[in-house]
This record gives sequence, C-alpha cells and structure tokens, in this order.
Amino acid sequence: MPATATIPPPPPPVLPPISYGALPLATRYLLSPLAGFTNLPFRRIVRSIGGLGLATTDLVNARGLLEGSAKSLELVETCPEDQPLSVQLFGSDPELMARASQWLEARGVQSIDINMGCPVSKVTKTGSGASMMCRRDDALVLVERVVNSVKLPVTVKMRLGWDENNLTAPEFARAFEEVGVAAVAVHGRTRAQGFSGVVNRAGIKAVVEAVRRIPVIGNGDIRSVADAARMLSETGCHGISVGRGALANPWIFKQFDQWERTGRCDPAGGFDDRLDLLRRQLDYAVELRGPDRSIPYFRKMGHWYLKSMFVPAHLRNAFQQAQTQTDLQQVLGRIVDHGPTTGSRHEALPDLHIPVPSGPVEHW
Ligand SMILES: Cc1cc2nc3c(=O)[nH]c(=O)nc-3n(C[C@H](O)[C@H](O)[C@H](O)COP(=O)(O)O)c2cc1C
Repeated sequence: MPATATIPPPPPPVLPPISYGALPLATRYLLSPLAGFTNLPFRRIVRSIGGLGLATTDLVNARGLLEGSAKSLELVETCPEDQPLSVQLFGSDPELMARASQWLEARGVQSIDINMGCPVSKVTKTGSGASMMCRRDDALVLVERVVNSVKLPVTVKMRLGWDENNLTAPEFARAFEEVGVAAVAVHGRTRAQGFSGVVNRAGIKAVVEAVRRIPVIGNGDIRSVADAARMLSETGCHGISVGRGALANPWIFKQFDQWERTGRCDPAGGFDDRLDLLRRQLDYAVELRGPDRSIPYFRKMGHWYLKSMFVPAHLRNAFQQAQTQTDLQQVLGRIVDHGPTTGSRHEALPDLHIPVPSGPVEHW
C-alpha cells in the first residue's frame, strides 16, 4: 500500500456536477496540459483507467496549426475514445487564435483552452502565455475574439499573475467570465515562482470569489486524496486538474472519483499493473508513429513509468539507450526478471517523489 492509502481519506465533499457551458463533464477531475506528455497515447491510458472528466492537449501554437506545421498537427491527433478533449492554444494574435479555434471546431474537438500560464521565455517573449497576464486589455480582446468565433466552450488556463505584486488572476477571471469564457483553471503560483514554493490556495480562493457562475479549476501539487480534499475545501473550487501527479500515478483520477462517490479508494497499481500500462502506451505510440519514431517519442514517458515501478538505474538507462523495438523488448524482459527494488511486484509501491522542471524559469 502507498503511504497515503494507509491514512483514511477525509470525507468527500457534496458538490454539484460540473460543466463547461453546455458540455457536461462526467467528473470534476481533469488532466492538466503537460507539454511532451499529454499526447494521445497517454490520454488513452488515463481514459482507459477511468475517473477523468476531460483531458487537454499540450500547448499548440495557433499559427503553426493554421500553417499546417507537422508538429502542431501531431499535437492535435485524437481518436473516438479520446473525449471530451480540449485543445490548448497559445498565441497573441486574436485573429489567428480565432481561426485556429474554428479549424479545431470543424474537426470535432469539444473545447478550446487559451494558455495564459506558460512561463517559458520562448512563449512569453512573443506576447503569449503568462505575459498576457500583464496586459489586461490585449488579453481581453483576444479572449473575446476567440469566444465569439466558435460555439464550443472556451476556457483560460492561467497562473495567479506575473509576480506577487501583480496577482491579476481574480480580476482577469471576472473579466473573462463577462466576455463568455466557460471556465478558468488556475495554477496557484505566479510566473516568477516557476515551480518553487507551495501552491497558494488563498490565491485560488480569491479567483473563486471573483467569478459569479463559471467553474474554477484548482491546480498545483495535487498528488493524493488528501491534497484534492484540501484544494476543494480551502478554495471552494469546482474541479481539480492534475499534471505531474498523473504521470506518477495514472490511477489518480479514478481514485478521486471513487473517493467522491464512496469515501474510499483503491490503491494505485503496482509493478505489474504499471508494466502493463507501459506496454499498452508503447503499443499506442507504435500505432501512431510507427516502430522507429515511437522509441524517441516514448522515452520521456518511459522514464516516469520506470521510476514509479522502482526499476534500478542501470535498467532505466538501458531502456533509454534502446534503438530498436527488439532492444526495447529485450530490456523490458530484464526489467520483468528483476522486479522492483523495493516492495513486491504484485502490491502497491511507495509514492514517487515528483521532480519539478529544472533550471531558471525562463529556459524550461
Ligand atoms: C513538463 C511540464 C509541461 C507543462 N506544459 C504545460 C502546457 O503545455 N500548458 C499549460 O498550460 N501548462 C503546462 N504545464 C503546467 C501544468 O499544466 C500545471 O499547471 C503545473 O504542472 C502544476 O500542476 P501539477 O503540480 O499538477 O503538475 C506544464 C508543466 C510541466 C511540469
């Protein structure tokens, strides 16, 4: 059993169902966009486990999408079971953002999310991502233009503001609601904070109090039922989105949903269950990219699986060195033979320490 599962979870809250405009969500537990990870194979895995209300893609460049860039088109790849899906767009040109949203609406996505949280300088220096939180009028024009260009629900994902002296999220959320945004998601840190410090739940609560009707999705550092309970009770938020916690534990949405329904939840899967997910996600990656391209495509995610399976470093390294499907299968065979470095292969494993992106926030 993981450490958190031995502590009885706090009682679940009684909350009304959640929807994005006319789009009802089956649960209030959502997958946060994680560039490099929230691709179609991973979304299929999380959806197959259950409990997920909605998934969002990695951030997608609106201009790239309209120009037909291969990278942008790959990021919006989906399949019938991958619903409801929101595509997250970034860009600072209202016209391009509106056209990209219409392009997505015509191809059947269920929601558009506008990125106002990305702290990376590659994005902020173009006037998009978190830098929009410093330019209220421009941000509002862009959001209103996108909302008016599609029938789909449009949401905005933001941080609390640029820095602690500019906590603009409550004011922005209120203004966005007035121009027709269906929900806002808030990572409870400022751009200047990067991933340092702790999530400021009082800051998220201020956003909840600033809006009138739309749901606010609380985000940041949620790893367990206790974290989810704290986020819901201390902020009054209507839903929760989980990023890194889902890489470490793809069962997290199912656990939250079980807890909300019954007050209890099953532990996360153990070594064998994780191995099964790894193999399935790898198969989905091969289906999508072919045998050769799927190997580099899967490496980042493979790292999270193997860490959470407590595979020793020499076998994790061997996995990362694999060049062909035969190499990969051979290393997986050695991983199966070895088993986890701690605990048993059939039972739940200890919780994984979750790293944050390293280096200065400007260069992630
Ligand atoms: C590797 C990585 C990639 C991310 N990519 C995006 C992104 O594309 N769009 C976005 O809005 N946020 C992105 N984020 C931020 C997450 O969506 C989320 O707000 C943040 O990680 C805090 O939530 P967590 O503690 O549950 O991970 C990213 C975070 C990480 C660690």
